[in-house]
Amino acid sequence: MDANPPKRKETRKSLRIKVISMGNAEVGKSCIIKRYCEKRFVPKYLATIGIDYGVTKVQVRDREIKVNIFDMAGHPFFYEVRNEFYKDTQGVILVYDVGQKESFDALDAWLAEMKQELGPHGNMENIVFVVCANKIDCTKHRSVDESEGRLWAESRGFLYFETSAQTGEGINEMFQTFYSAIIDLCDNGGKRPPSSTGVGFTKEQADAIRRIRNSKDSWDMLGVKPGATRDEVNKAYRKLAVLLHPDKCVAPGSEDAFKAVVNARTALLKNIK
Ligand code: GTP
Ligand code: MG
Repeated sequence: MDANPPKRKETRKSLRIKVISMGNAEVGKSCIIKRYCEKRFVPKYLATIGIDYGVTKVQVRDREIKVNIFDMAGHPFFYEVRNEFYKDTQGVILVYDVGQKESFDALDAWLAEMKQELGPHGNMENIVFVVCANKIDCTKHRSVDESEGRLWAESRGFLYFETSAQTGEGINEMFQTFYSAIIDLCDNGGKRPPSSTGVGFTKEQADAIRRIRNSKDSWDMLGVKPGATRDEVNKAYRKLAVLLHPDKCVAPGSEDAFKAVVNARTALLKNIK
């Protein structure tokens, strides 16, 4: 008798997953899906009415997965139609248009809508989110830069990709990484594996960068009251410098934020006796 019978090749059952698309009207959700599934782009805007549904089989690493895609309409008018499709979702494609700041600012509202529909027992922690900064081919009109988008996404533990449904840039990579992360989630019993949640920077760092970007003047940037003393300015500066020093902070946009803080301090100290 053979003491070492050949190992049976591991056969893993094929996966069936549900993904949804979310984001304002006209940001390119349907075009991103069409580019990946049908390898084509339609320049004419055909608004999704309520919801579009499709099934597709994809090969990711050594696995075949069956994907049920629910492509939502972004227009507020369709809220009643789309709200019942949020549940039992493993992955969300969250899209904004890099030339339309409102569509980026609306991402929080999209998360809030999903959270509300999932109810108090719904768990958003164990869903894979990928943020698509779309229409990067329109470089002239860009109003949300990469570090701002990346910071928003990565500080929440979401994936982030720059995409163009028109040229196809970033689309395949985005879907492959997205599906891979969903497979890891399913293989981990439906829980997000710990390795995918560590982003290498803290919420405090991300919040500080966001606040610095949106500050209206140098006082505001350092988080001190107009008319603050030299000591107060220096104290606030030191705190931010430690938090955001490029040697210590890997959050997207930290270098620019650090420079802005240095400049703000210099400008303020010039005018304080
Ligand atoms: P709703 O279904 O209304 O929620 O919109 P949507 O997000 O599905 O947008 P859709 O995919 O229909 O695209 C809206 C418009 O943007 C269309 O005219 C597309 O041709 C255009 N568009 C989509 N993606 C891109 C892109 O990457 N680059 C450029 N230049 N145009 C794009
Ligand atoms: Mg659509």
